[in-house]
Amino acid sequence: MAGINRQIQLVELPKGKLSPTHFTLAEAPIPSVSEGEVLLKTILISLDAANRAWMQGATYRDALESGQVMAGGGLAEVIESKAEGFAVGDLVFADTGWQEYIALPAKNLNSVPRLEPLSYLISVYGIAGLTAYFGLLEVGQPKAGETIVVSAAAGSVGSIVGQIAKLKGCRVVGIAGGAEKCKWLVDELGFDAAVDYKNEPVHKALKAACPEGIDVYFDNVGGEMLDAAILNMNEKGRLIISGAVSEYNKAEPRGIRNTLNFITHRLRMEGLVVYDYFKRFPEAQAEMAGWISTGRLKFTEDISEGIEGAPAAFIGLFEGENHGRRLIKVS
Ligand SMILES: NC(=O)c1ccc[n+]([C@@H]2O[C@H](COP(=O)([O-])OP(=O)(O)OC[C@H]3O[C@@H](n4cnc5c(N)ncnc54)[C@H](OP(=O)(O)O)[C@@H]3O)[C@@H](O)[C@H]2O)c1
Repeated sequence: MAGINRQIQLVELPKGKLSPTHFTLAEAPIPSVSEGEVLLKTILISLDAANRAWMQGATYRDALESGQVMAGGGLAEVIESKAEGFAVGDLVFADTGWQEYIALPAKNLNSVPRLEPLSYLISVYGIAGLTAYFGLLEVGQPKAGETIVVSAAAGSVGSIVGQIAKLKGCRVVGIAGGAEKCKWLVDELGFDAAVDYKNEPVHKALKAACPEGIDVYFDNVGGEMLDAAILNMNEKGRLIISGAVSEYNKAEPRGIRNTLNFITHRLRMEGLVVYDYFKRFPEAQAEMAGWISTGRLKFTEDISEGIEGAPAAFIGLFEGENHGRRLIKVS
């Protein structure tokens, strides 16, 4: 298919804070499709804080390199197919990168059912919702009556973690930046308390908000907040390491302190990569759909239009600009 494929490329990898100069808008031809491949037109791109960690070195995928199209997950429609099992009009969730078109081998793709709003496929039923679901329930193993604390609580992963924990009968405390986000967590999402890390010392505020200590800490942030949580954990407490958004923009990450408490309090810390639960995604999506349809799980999206706005919207994640899942509508 002839035409132009607008894409955001990485000019160079950041050494510290990410800035717009690390990206550029470029034009390439729409790729041609080989046997066994499909041509995808990107509908929505998901801006995940974790994409920033891919710039720091190899993770569960190869490190990003300067000059390449910025990587990221997208919801896309098949517009040409040379692969069995895929027809024009099928929807897929794929590693589209920040671009309008991509040709990919179909063997690595799964089609997803068309539902409304389409954006839910890439937000609450996508990586954010699934990370919250499997991280909390499988890694954290929360029990009714326990105290759960989640950081970046007003973000897309954190807000779902807190609500699922409430559904499981836990007491939930969120950590977020600013009075407005904290009020939203308590008034709209039903959290029991919220700590505003931008305006109060986290260690002291957590102690006051969790008079009976913390049983499960869902960590999206790392750094000082993780250290403060460790100091407030109960015996046999579980720490779920989902991400470290406070560290992604640092040339020298802080590392974990207060490790003595792991011995004295018999703590367990475990990380997760959501894709490990890939085969069980439908089960989680079905359960979350039930909660959404009965109004017990609320979800917020923060959608802007146009691929050219992706770098600024992405950088804003690290300033706490977003209210819920930040998506870019491409077409
Ligand atoms: N392990 C996995 O498989 C997996 C998969 C997906 C995502 N994740 C992780 O989940 C976490 C949340 O990701 P998301 O994409 O859903 O982002 P998000 O929570 O929607 O947005 C990021 C939030 O982080 C907070 N933040 C930014 N800089 C911060 C700092 N220096 N200190 C404290 N908080 C800061 C901001 O909220 P405030 O306004 O409250 O500061 C911001 O809204 C990330 O750490 C990501 O890496 C893990």
